[in-house]
Amino acid sequence: MIFTVGGIKGGSGKSTIATNLTVWLSKQGFDVLLVDADEQETATKFTKWREHNTKGNSGYTATILTGDAVRQQVLKFKPKFDHIVIDTGGRDTTSQRAALSVSDVYLVPFNPRSFDLWTIADVENLVKEVRSIKPDKLHAFSILNRADQRGPTIKTPLSCWEKVL
Ligand SMILES: Nc1ncnc2c1ncn2[C@@H]1O[C@H](COP(=O)(O)OP(=O)(O)OP(=O)(O)O)[C@@H](O)[C@H]1O
Ligand SMILES: [Mg+2]
Repeated sequence: MIFTVGGIKGGSGKSTIATNLTVWLSKQGFDVLLVDADEQETATKFTKWREHNTKGNSGYTATILTGDAVRQQVLKFKPKFDHIVIDTGGRDTTSQRAALSVSDVYLVPFNPRSFDLWTIADVENLVKEVRSIKPDKLHAFSILNRADQRGPTIKTPLSCWEKVL
């Protein structure tokens, strides 16, 4: 599986989910590649920290890719790994589109707050565009992150997102 963790909102939890997913998959015994496709390089900093804390046994392989190289290199890596997880930046970048063009799964975390929800239409358009040029199916999932328990108000973001998926 190739997972892209993305969206077009900063600070939604992309790197948190990408790194945790990578570690979780590696702990299940899978050979995992974590691709950092965000110039901020949070995933790379996490890997350095984890390599240090585990004395070089982080459990997965990591690399940095940007722009069109995300597509080209991920296609080359694909047969060599069980899973590839791509962490992208919080904007509609060439890197994110290149990642989506080779991905099976698109994970889009968002905080259930107005400013975050207002990006839904743009993400929906991005998913539609990628699907129109991609022969294989792109499964898109939203992830409610940092949600607090507020009862019925949580229904608003969920109903919006059902249109995207
Ligand atoms: N579920 C959560 N609970 C508490 N803190 C969280 C949670 N998810 C993310 N955070 C925190 O929110 C901040 C932003 O998370 P993260 O860096 O993963 O977002 P991002 O979408 O990758 O940001 P960017 O767009 O800058 O790449 C971090 O400080 C992270 O530790
Ligand atoms: Mg990030």
